[in-house]
Amino acid sequence: MPAPDEDYRAVNLAQWNERAPAHAASPDYAVERFLAEPDYLSHVVRFDLPLLGDVRGLRGVHLQCHIGTDTVSLARRGARMTGVDFSPAALTEARRLAAGAGADVEFVESDVYNAPAAVGRDDFDLVYTGVGALCWLPDIVGWAHTVAALLRPGGRLFIREGHPVLWALDDERTDQLVLAYPYHHQRVATVFDEPGTYVETEVQFQHNRSHEWNHGLGEIVTALLDAGMQLTGLVEHDSVPWNAVPGQMVPAAADHEWRLADRPERLPHTYTLQAVRQG
Ligand SMILES: C[S@@+](CC[C@H](N)C(=O)[O-])C[C@H]1O[C@@H](n2cnc3c(N)ncnc32)[C@H](O)[C@@H]1O
Repeated sequence: MPAPDEDYRAVNLAQWNERAPAHAASPDYAVERFLAEPDYLSHVVRFDLPLLGDVRGLRGVHLQCHIGTDTVSLARRGARMTGVDFSPAALTEARRLAAGAGADVEFVESDVYNAPAAVGRDDFDLVYTGVGALCWLPDIVGWAHTVAALLRPGGRLFIREGHPVLWALDDERTDQLVLAYPYHHQRVATVFDEPGTYVETEVQFQHNRSHEWNHGLGEIVTALLDAGMQLTGLVEHDSVPWNAVPGQMVPAAADHEWRLADRPERLPHTYTLQAVRQG
């Protein structure tokens, strides 16, 4: 096992830099559809729309934007978007996507915690993030302050994220749901060493270690409240946009979401949290 105190940023960055081009080439991210269809939106943003509402004219920042598919989707809905990610390889793909899709999106290379300084703004109307973002962050209190620092008073956080109960499950068990990993935040990371990724690809990866943290729902809400955010919505969903527990989930053609095949009502798969920065 790797030492738990190795540089988590360097380890995770190597993992993401290697995966970004494979993700952009994978049919799961549907980059070619963005290029071919001017109105195409990612399934993630399409799912968000009923809760997200009209974003036309909003100045938005997408934290941990990865290869930019959701960022470009929000731009296509009329938001003026900035994407932030610490992976230069992911941003190369994101910039290529935005250029090919004709979307005017700025992408900034930065660690989440340095985002306010890196983008040079504190007046965003919208911070958008999630779908595999918080698990890479060791400090949820610092994240909540980062979100608040990016928003103008009255500006909104929109996050749809894997539910901390989902992250705590053993995703190698195909027979039953087993809580294997921490639900509550731990100072020391859970270190994984796994060869694959969450999309369909033939690429063999060299950098397979990752350092991850779970954050309980109460810890996330409390961090946001303490950072001066007011909670305006919290919805738990019975679906998730990736195959999070392989062997136990089925996809639905209607919304491209995955659910437990057996009694999905047992598990909060994901949640959407919204909060507004108080004045
Ligand atoms: C699972 S991806 C996010 C997925 C995204 N919602 C999507 O599907 O396109 C996680 C992203 O977080 C980024 N990331 C991880 N740790 C980070 C950090 N400390 N600061 C900035 N970005 C980080 C990675 O580079 C990666 O692009």
